[in-house]
Amino acid sequence: MFEPFDRELEKTSSRRMKRYWKIAILANIKDDTHPKPVGVPPDAFADFDHIETVDSLRAALETDGHSTVFLQADRDLPYALREEKPDICFNIAEGLGGDAREAQVPALLEMLGIPYTGSRVLTNGISLDKTLTKRIWRDRRLPVAPFQEFIAGDEPLRPELKFPLFVKPAREGTGMGVDMNAIVNNEKELRERALYIVNTYQQPALVETFLPGREFTIGILGRADAKLYSRHPDWYEKDGFHRFPVLELDTSRSVTPWVYGLDAKSKDVGADGSPGYFCPAEIEPELEKKLKYFALRAHQLLYTLDVSRTDIRLDEEGNPRVMEINTLPGLTPDYSDLCLQAKAEGIRYEDLVLDILYLGASRWGMLEPRDPNDLPKKK
Ligand SMILES: Nc1ncnc2c1ncn2[C@@H]1O[C@H](COP(=O)(O)OP(=O)(O)O)[C@@H](O)[C@H]1O
Ligand SMILES: [Mg+2]
Repeated sequence: MFEPFDRELEKTSSRRMKRYWKIAILANIKDDTHPKPVGVPPDAFADFDHIETVDSLRAALETDGHSTVFLQADRDLPYALREEKPDICFNIAEGLGGDAREAQVPALLEMLGIPYTGSRVLTNGISLDKTLTKRIWRDRRLPVAPFQEFIAGDEPLRPELKFPLFVKPAREGTGMGVDMNAIVNNEKELRERALYIVNTYQQPALVETFLPGREFTIGILGRADAKLYSRHPDWYEKDGFHRFPVLELDTSRSVTPWVYGLDAKSKDVGADGSPGYFCPAEIEPELEKKLKYFALRAHQLLYTLDVSRTDIRLDEEGNPRVMEINTLPGLTPDYSDLCLQAKAEGIRYEDLVLDILYLGASRWGMLEPRDPNDLPKKK
């Protein structure tokens, strides 16, 4: 049905010769016109994108001469790909069901030999699972809050976990399953919440020490050879990575004080009940250095490719603890955290999106590297 491997290789060389590509945006779009299927959590599909985000991405990609098409990342996607034959896919798809939905589209594209942007299967599969992710980080000495996974909900609590604790679904995003009841103060509240998560979301509950301190999120863009393919080599430091300015979320006055859950995330920036967004955050240079270091380590330890956003919160003593990484960070202009960070340092949305495209495309042999002698000398 699909082309055999040698034909794929031929296609790769023809893609390389092209200056302008046909790009398919792959996304799962929110559809509020249809009722939700029975048996899914109340906030199911909350991390899906609005069509306006796809339109913004298309407009951004078209500014550099490419043509674009939007393909819904549902069960018809394999047929749509065969029909449209894109040169490359810009992937923001969250996927449908299962234990690693964010890895579904990358897995399909790998099988079909179609180039795509951003992280691959393993990374997107593991990073969706916050427990597995934290085990990897802890093993490599990245500071994380003490945690325990509850699969049934009635497991005995390990003594090192002291109340208050924080309970969240192990494999969701966008604050799904996270509201004020996520903070539990005693055994009874813990059991109720853990069972609620296990039963409602049909997945383990991750129980962590509650981190009472300030909250930050840090974007990373690039890789060792990013300067050779970027339209903006000056963005990248010597190691090839760009660290976006730290964004602080002041959740204290949000609809859900101290908790950046789904309700708080759904508010427009500046709207009533939204958290305060401060970028660059007002922090000591030493803390800034630590946050950026941990975000890059978190990114690298999961083999993340090209772009990510890592959430970090301070514990009781003011020490950073890495909470989670988003390997498919939201890309809604003037709304998604990564876009706010880019804007704060004067990076235009179009340029951000195009760099994600070209970093991705270069990994598939679609771009000739720039002559290293042509690079700007500084940094
Ligand atoms: N251990 C914790 N202590 C305090 N707050 C937490 C903790 N874990 C998560 N939160 C809060 O819940 C929000 C969502 O959790 P997070 O792990 O980032 O999941 P996601 O953003 O994928 O839903 C965080 O931004 C933070 O406000
Ligand atoms: Mg988060």
